[in-house]
Amino acid sequence: MLFFIDTANIEEIRESSTWGIIDGVTTNPSLIAKEGKNLVDVIKEITGLIDGPISAEVQEGSAEQMVEEAFGYARIHPNITIKVPMTFEGIKATKVLSGYNIKTNVTLVFSVAQALMAAKAGATFVSPFMGRLDDATGTDTAGYELLEDIRVAFDNFGYETMIIAASIRHTEHVKQAALAGSDVATIPFKVLKQMIEHPLTTKGLQIFRDAAKK
Ligand code: E4P
Repeated sequence: MLFFIDTANIEEIRESSTWGIIDGVTTNPSLIAKEGKNLVDVIKEITGLIDGPISAEVQEGSAEQMVEEAFGYARIHPNITIKVPMTFEGIKATKVLSGYNIKTNVTLVFSVAQALMAAKAGATFVSPFMGRLDDATGTDTAGYELLEDIRVAFDNFGYETMIIAASIRHTEHVKQAALAGSDVATIPFKVLKQMIEHPLTTKGLQIFRDAAKK
């Protein structure tokens, strides 16, 4: 299972990169805006920190506009993955970009039908949003079930499009993503830090520290 970090914050990416377990980065317009920086500057900086897919999102528009914008980002570094919105224009753009061997990540996916459209277009990644789906349905399993269903649908036909569990809110979502067979989880920095913690680990460490002093 690959772990991507879901952030545009350079300090978070820098710190997590030292752990040696981060395989890629996803950004989106909201994350970039939060940093008050320009997308191109941010992704250039990230390429120096993480050697793996780095998602840069194009603005929603016509397929031609999105492809044009994508070419600009793809020229920056071979690891750049173009995040494309789940629209018909986005699907057209994905098909064109896959023809140029430019990696794509179709985002804002909330159904198996949408995921299949992205896979048919040759998307490298598809991003079902767990947290937003759970929020919208008032459950804690809708995101999980969607991931499970997409896994079955892709495996039925041998689609190689990789599933990124996105919109992760807590460590339980990471567990659900793994159990559902997602290829990737893109995880916020805060949740990555929580993944190392367990009260019994903390307690056990204290017991061993005390023992070592004796
Ligand atoms: C995925 O690539 C998105 O950046 C992200 O996971 C969206 O999550 P949110 O629902 O917390 O905005």
